[in-house]
Amino acid sequence: MEPIIKVNNSTYYLGVNDRQTRFFENLWPIPHGMAYNSYLIKDEKNVLLDTVDITYTDRFLRQIRAALAGEKLDYIVINHMEPDHSGSLGLILSHYPEATLVVNRQSKKMLEGYFGEVEHVLEVSEKETLPIGSRELRFITAPMVHWPEVMFTYDPLEETLYSADAFGSYGTVDGGIFDYQRSDTEHQMNECTRYYSNIVGMYGPFVQKAMKKVESLPIKQICSVHGSIWQERIPEILRLYDQLAAYGSEPGLVLVYATMYGHLSELADTIAHAAGRAGVTPVKVYNLASQDVSYAIGDIFRYSGVIIGSPTYNNSLYPKIEELLSKLEMRKVSPRFYGHFGTGSWNPNVAGKLADFGERMKWTTVADPVTMLMSMADDKEAEGVRLGEAMAKAILSGTPEIAK
Ligand code: FEO
Repeated sequence: MEPIIKVNNSTYYLGVNDRQTRFFENLWPIPHGMAYNSYLIKDEKNVLLDTVDITYTDRFLRQIRAALAGEKLDYIVINHMEPDHSGSLGLILSHYPEATLVVNRQSKKMLEGYFGEVEHVLEVSEKETLPIGSRELRFITAPMVHWPEVMFTYDPLEETLYSADAFGSYGTVDGGIFDYQRSDTEHQMNECTRYYSNIVGMYGPFVQKAMKKVESLPIKQICSVHGSIWQERIPEILRLYDQLAAYGSEPGLVLVYATMYGHLSELADTIAHAAGRAGVTPVKVYNLASQDVSYAIGDIFRYSGVIIGSPTYNNSLYPKIEELLSKLEMRKVSPRFYGHFGTGSWNPNVAGKLADFGERMKWTTVADPVTMLMSMADDKEAEGVRLGEAMAKAILSGTPEIAK
């Protein structure tokens, strides 16, 4: 039996690391796996907060039994109904049929949709608290962070916020559940950003509202359902979320392109190196023909400059670039500084489409596009340098504004 991990004086971490699934939501690559976190608060009443993916029910049940140590499970709070958290709920209830499910009006409907009629259900609103002995748990609705029924639970005794998907991350929690036990802060923040931008990114105004609701609470720990428990790095993760939810940015360039035979790579590198030489850091370059779009989206959420390049394909944009543009439009990530480039062997036909995209996004175009034909020519090198330098000048001059 694995050891039971304490989150604070009265709470246990019950969670699993998924190193089997390759794509989260069957869509987004998770090369470093995924953690599904649940928590058990022990008081006069014992409260389980969310469950885990159905695949891990057996292991999760053993953790619940060990943490309860023969005591009764009184409540299961549903902060989020998405099946990566509610998947094992039906089976957990078959072992703990006396437990009362604590839901809100929205999650009650979803509960019935997924599991049919459930016997013991307590519907709560933000105005109500749940007394469990030495404390009363509070509930904070956080609609669309990431589904409409999402709520946070706050434990005032331990000053702990249970934040559902918010502040979560891709990746397993290896060796320790707390942020201070990790030595890979930059990787962790990148995976938080990728998770946010991929999963929650289109709901920025809702995330801002939810953050406003909790800003005055004393918080010693933030327990998300994915990734590490935030403790020492709470200021950092709150700052990151402030920026992401507001579609803000920090200085840096993301150059995203695709190529079929490699010719466009030469122009991409020319532009990226020119920006780097002019003082931009970081410069992140992605070739979507071989790298997943989720990484580029994560960085575009974070950095102020974006340059996009595409070959002409069937008289239009390369499909992987079309996918990127559609995902960015859906997430309304703006404002940004913008530039674009492209190619086409006999009829380059992407500049107009990339320009239209920039206008729809209300991004600020910093220079004319560069269009090459079959392969790189000397004059295109000069144009690429000009685009890279113009982008550097914009990035180093300040933050972008919504283009008129
Ligand atoms: Fe981790 Fe929206 O589920």
